[in-house]
Amino acid sequence: MSSPSSAEQDHGGHHDRAAGPDHHGDGLGGNDHRHQHGHGHHGHANDRGFAAIRRYVKQTPRMWRSELNDAVVADVAPTPGERVVDIGAGMGAGVVAATPTGAVITAVEPTPFLRRVLTARRFVHRARSRIIVVDGAAEALPAQDGSIDAAWAVNAMHHWVDPRAAAAELARTLRPGGRILLVDEDFGDPEHPDAARRAAKGHGPHRHGFSPVEAEAMADALLAAGLVDVEAGKRTLAGRPALVVTARSGVGAG
Ligand SMILES: C[S@@+](CC[C@H](N)C(=O)[O-])C[C@H]1O[C@@H](n2cnc3c(N)ncnc32)[C@H](O)[C@@H]1O
Repeated sequence: MSSPSSAEQDHGGHHDRAAGPDHHGDGLGGNDHRHQHGHGHHGHANDRGFAAIRRYVKQTPRMWRSELNDAVVADVAPTPGERVVDIGAGMGAGVVAATPTGAVITAVEPTPFLRRVLTARRFVHRARSRIIVVDGAAEALPAQDGSIDAAWAVNAMHHWVDPRAAAAELARTLRPGGRILLVDEDFGDPEHPDAARRAAKGHGPHRHGFSPVEAEAMADALLAAGLVDVEAGKRTLAGRPALVVTARSGVGAG
């Protein structure tokens, strides 16, 4: 890993590295890997512009460090040297949670402001040599075929604009036996710890409205892409009701 010097570069959504060239030789985030996804930003329209920055700044406390991300990383259980990817890494709660495992962690993040936060956070982190920050999205993973041991996404799945493309990318980039854990909190569940606060504020169901139907659709897309052991369902993680999709890349894949 080179120095994290290269300031955030956003050249119309192409995958310029935010953290230097790929010295891990792991196929993740190398400058040679380019995706064309037909537009200048891979993320959801809601993640663009000043309104998105304002929204994410407000969410900083729960995006900086979160028990949900800790629980997801514990479930994925990366091992030393494994190449893992946090898709829609935000401000790095999952990335930071994964550093003690010894894995090499790629933070894939389509929102330029959040990549800047990630890059700064990486710079001051003692495990920065194992953290890579890259522009990308679920639908355009900046990783070579069969190069990933595990991938997860926390509260990001509902932002994906094209679940089929995302599933195809996961199938392409995971090594045989590689594992996937996708988790979206169910803010509409009355058991959710924020339910009372949201009701007191007069909020209806969370605006992303991610539902078991969407989780099932994601699972179907993963199955169609050739992944195995695909399951979609409801679980409680870190005391939060969540929609969870799990899958593996078949050992015959790759
Ligand atoms: C609510 S934040 C969650 C961030 C982080 N995973 C966490 O738990 O704090 C949603 C994230 O999804 C990202 N995102 C938006 N569109 C995406 C896409 N198509 N693929 C991957 N991530 C996306 C956003 O930029 C943002 O970082």
